[in-house]
Amino acid sequence: MKFIEAENYEKLSRRAANIISAQVIIKPDCVLGLATGSTPLGTYKQLIEWYEKGDIDFSEVFSVNLDEYIGLDGKNEQSYRYFMDKNFFDRINIDKSNTLIPSGTAEDRDAECANYDKKIKALGGIDLQLLGIGNDGHIGFNEPDSCFEKNTHVVRLHESTIEANARFFEKKEDVPKFAITMGMISIMQAKKILLIANGRNKKEILDKAFLGPITPEIPASILQLHPDITVIYSEK
Ligand code: GLP
Repeated sequence: MKFIEAENYEKLSRRAANIISAQVIIKPDCVLGLATGSTPLGTYKQLIEWYEKGDIDFSEVFSVNLDEYIGLDGKNEQSYRYFMDKNFFDRINIDKSNTLIPSGTAEDRDAECANYDKKIKALGGIDLQLLGIGNDGHIGFNEPDSCFEKNTHVVRLHESTIEANARFFEKKEDVPKFAITMGMISIMQAKKILLIANGRNKKEILDKAFLGPITPEIPASILQLHPDITVIYSEK
């Protein structure tokens, strides 16, 4: 594992964007695994800037996102599809039909989960997976549990996650109780992983995840087994 401590959020974002752009340059038709949350916003902003300068071309890139809220369609401003379109996809030259996000409104959720895994497999897996980390150690929406969930699945969000994510909604009651998330197989089979964490409040969970035992109670701890992971952390 490579651990980089960045001086501040801007530098963290720049380093993360650098790693992503290197991936796109080396393999223009790569599969990027992408994440939501507030931490990757600076990374996306930096990538957009480099795209606008003509330094990166996303026209052949495929993307697969980690998760989506159950019950929210892409027009809902709190959905992760809306987030990705607004903060990244609509501002670069990626082909929108090559951007996959699980559907939060599929009638047959089990079929949607199975299909999502099939689609990732058909793409040949993920070349570079960007991850944030939840305060309870979740990655995507893989919440602490008694076992690691392997495949894409529907998950009941923990109270602490609902509370943490309430800041994006008008009120806490509006936060969906369920989400659909990629499981550990697709994440762990990504050729490279880049995890970014910002702020002093993330330090304790990072230590638990990367220095403590590997346990499904801290889902991110499984990443200790990944052969090519970079963690970028900034205290402020
Ligand atoms: C959400 C997302 C995660 C993300 C986490 C942390 O729960 N599902 O993918 O890592 O939030 O978000 P933030 O970066 O805002 O701390």
